Amino acid sequence: MRIWKLVEYFFLPELRRYGKFTHIKDRDFILPKTKKIGLYLHIPFCHSLCPYCPYDRILFEKTLSERYTNAVIKEIELIKDKVGKVEITSLYIGGGTPTTIGKNLEKIITKIKGEFLIKENTIFIETNPNDITEGKMAMLKDLGIGMVSIGVQSFQDKFLRAIGRNYNAKTAMKAIEIVKKYINNINIDLMFVLPEQSEKDFEYDLKKAIEADVQQITAYPLFTFPYSQVGKFLKINSVKLPSFRSRKRMFYLMYNILTENEYVPASVWGFKKPTGTEFSSVSRMYYIGLGASAATKVPGKFYMNTFSIPHYIERVNSGHFAEVVKMDYTKRMDNYYWLYWKIYETHFQKSEFEKRFRNDKKALFLIKALETGSFIKTRSAHYTLTRKGMFYVHLLQNLIALNHIGKVWGKMIHEAEPREIQL
Ligand SMILES: C[S@@+](CC[C@H](N)C(=O)[O-])C[C@H]1O[C@@H](n2cnc3c(N)ncnc32)[C@H](O)[C@@H]1O
Ligand code: SF4
Repeated sequence: MRIWKLVEYFFLPELRRYGKFTHIKDRDFILPKTKKIGLYLHIPFCHSLCPYCPYDRILFEKTLSERYTNAVIKEIELIKDKVGKVEITSLYIGGGTPTTIGKNLEKIITKIKGEFLIKENTIFIETNPNDITEGKMAMLKDLGIGMVSIGVQSFQDKFLRAIGRNYNAKTAMKAIEIVKKYINNINIDLMFVLPEQSEKDFEYDLKKAIEADVQQITAYPLFTFPYSQVGKFLKINSVKLPSFRSRKRMFYLMYNILTENEYVPASVWGFKKPTGTEFSSVSRMYYIGLGASAATKVPGKFYMNTFSIPHYIERVNSGHFAEVVKMDYTKRMDNYYWLYWKIYETHFQKSEFEKRFRNDKKALFLIKALETGSFIKTRSAHYTLTRKGMFYVHLLQNLIALNHIGKVWGKMIHEAEPREIQL
């Protein structure tokens, strides 16, 4: 069976089943009693705005960042009153560029530590090469940050310029060395399928990333979200983006180079050293989101905070939750969500799959079809994606990001409290 037929038959109807997001009032924001949960914290500030970026972000401004920090502290109190002093399994701080707010980060993390139970080395943070200083890294180390993700994107000045990044390759290498002195557990983000980028160019970036000797390397193909400024910036019709075949060759190149250099797949676009911890904000089952645009997922409910930064501040300061829309989902959908992210992580236990899908003919058929098409293989107690499987799931993830996430985020970015978002 062709992979697209499989997608059409299996994933799209399941995605459509998720239906829609609807506007909610405070009383509709329900969190279950739980002992443990993940946390996501969104810090939307950056020192310069990349034209291709789909995230909820804004130019750094000192007064606004102070007001935002105080609002996050207020939101932590609101959430704590609702769930109690629960254990936080991991805290992922994403953005934007969270390190832009400097000492205010210390205030927020200290507050989280005071209100919840959180272990050492379970805090992950994103940053940008231009925002890395000895002082900030020393602070992160003192706060017990377990892993730092650096958005390098490329080690070549011409590509950094082409995508609107305002540092050069030398600064990126230097930034990695600074982080290493304080927290030697690093992920590097690269981007590929960049305009005019050849396979040789991507190979160069991968080799530089390997030379940097970091625990994890993640490479995203450039997504061109319709609502971002990327089309205008790159004059997308006049520059040459690599073809499908070239994209596939680039993906296989990445797989081959990284696996030959002791990295193992951690997701369809991330590779880690075998002993390293995985660095991902998306594949946790249940989590609470803090900050503008953050999402919360608990059994049966998916919520999203307002994307508007002024509106976020106003809501939490007046004692309201920041969650403005929700989507209900059934246990069956939760299982499919689990399966989707397990496939994304490239490996999962057979016994876990069987527990969830014993009586689900469609899911059993999917696994058979993936095996027959050599997209997955069975290794003793595990299902593992093959290189071919990883490439197609990476395309699927791209498609979902552009169609579904793009649609929802596109609306949330333009409206502080949308009435309804149809998927
Ligand atoms: C929120 S950014 C975090 C890091 C930091 N703000 C930076 O840009 O260096 C997360 C990562 O998303 C990736 N990214 C952002 N926009 C993208 C796009 N349109 N297509 C593919 N990857 C993208 C980049 O690799 C970036 O490092
Ligand atoms: S890619 Fe990173 S630095 Fe650029 S605008 Fe987005 S969040 Fe900010």
